[in-house]
Amino acid sequence: MRQALAAGLWLALPLAAQGDELGRKVFTQVAQPPCMACHTLKAAGAEGTVGPSLDELKPGLDQALQAVRHGVGIMPSFRDKLTSEQIEAVARFVAESAGK
Ligand code: HEC
Repeated sequence: MRQALAAGLWLALPLAAQGDELGRKVFTQVAQPPCMACHTLKAAGAEGTVGPSLDELKPGLDQALQAVRHGVGIMPSFRDKLTSEQIEAVARFVAESAGK
């Protein structure tokens, strides 16, 4: 029942918001290890401290895409673990919600 309700809400959301939802989900759950294990990002309820706080760093879209695709320092590359749709969604989510 709750799932049917959630599915209904999902369909009712405008497309842009769905992209946002996908990005948030990749950030908190889908990516392995999840971004939130290492990063702080208020919009995702994330308080990781292994990597920089994304709220302070405020990376742009290209910077976020680059980091997720290729990794930076000890941050792993997610290119083989996420689809390009998931990578774009999570990078957009980070770029648009950091610092908010
Ligand atoms: C294992 C911990 C870890 C995970 C998981 C992780 N990161 Fe990172 N991330 C880091 C660290 C550490 C850095 C800083 C690397 C450096 O500057 O040497 C970083 C840097 C970044 C940067 C800044 C890149 C730059 O140009 O300075 C972005 C954006 C970023 N991560 C986004 C993400 C996203 C999105 C995810 C999930 C798909 C993610 N990270 C998952 C540890 C992690």
